[in-house]
Amino acid sequence: MINKAVASVVPYFPKKFIWMFSKKYIAGVTVQDAISVSRSLNMHGVSVTVDLLGEFIHNMEQASFNRDEYLKIIEAFESAQVDGTYSLKPTSFGLLIDPEECYQNIRMIVSLASKYGSFVRIDMEDSKCVDLELTLYKRLKHEFPNRVGLVLQAYLKRTADDVDAMLKLHTPDSPLNFRLCKGIYNESEEIAYKQGSIINENYLKLLEKMLYRGVYVGIATHDVALVEGARKLIKKYQVPKDMYEFQMLYGVAPELRNKIVGDGNKMRVYVPYGEDWFGYSTRRLKENPKMAQHIIKSIFVK
Ligand code: FDA
Repeated sequence: MINKAVASVVPYFPKKFIWMFSKKYIAGVTVQDAISVSRSLNMHGVSVTVDLLGEFIHNMEQASFNRDEYLKIIEAFESAQVDGTYSLKPTSFGLLIDPEECYQNIRMIVSLASKYGSFVRIDMEDSKCVDLELTLYKRLKHEFPNRVGLVLQAYLKRTADDVDAMLKLHTPDSPLNFRLCKGIYNESEEIAYKQGSIINENYLKLLEKMLYRGVYVGIATHDVALVEGARKLIKKYQVPKDMYEFQMLYGVAPELRNKIVGDGNKMRVYVPYGEDWFGYSTRRLKENPKMAQHIIKSIFVK
């Protein structure tokens, strides 16, 4: 209860307090900041996926601007020889304004990443975007079979059917590549599981199906129970190490991350950066109100 109350005041926190919290979770403001954080993760045997933070856009000029920024990021990361890939949110490229132009924007980004032998992951946004993002992924996968992947959310009741439908498109020449996460948006109980134990059960069911069917999976979680469940499934199906990776958010659960890497697994860290750090940070704080309580405490207790 108190957590919810704390979460509701998060947007009203002074910006400098949010920054005190944020700097642990955000690589910085410039592409050079993102490159230096990524390099230091690389030095510890961790790959990255970089994400340029952005708020909701209102017109296609903003979408073109974001596309051009991503093209610059790819050039900068590739010339710095970072071991990394790219993650993006289609709404930043106009998904809800002009889906066709959004496709063309993202196509240019995937095409450039592809030229460098890299990879682009389409983040999954809230439920009104799911159909559009599935379609976008299928279209891009057709043209760039090994250079694009999609995120799926275990809290959505529809995801099992979405996976079944997409498995029909899983071929040796054009394999599926998913990141599986719990899901971050506030969805209604008509369409989403709300109870943590049920979300975890569905997560492991979906993961089992993906691993069993030979789909490459980015196992994105900081939940020890899911990491353990994933380990068991990997063992059960003797999944080769090059057919999965673990993924975590920058700054979250570093001990668990080190443990997973120490056990010889591939790990990729999601590295967000950019001038729009404020919106991203308030969302993270709302997800984890315990963190917000610590911040409030630090305001009063010196
Ligand atoms: P859970 O929420 O139970 O967290 C387990 C523990 O991890 C917590 O107890 C806490 O200690 C720690 N923790 C988790 N999140 C934290 C945070 N933000 N700050 C501090 N500590 C935290 N979602 C989505 O809808 N679309 C997407 O495209 C993506 N993409 C994505 C990429 C990657 C690499 C990751 C790791 C996650 C996402 N997500 C996402 C977010 C995901 O859906 C989910 O909300 C978070 O990962 C939290 O769920 P966990 O599985 O970590 O479990």
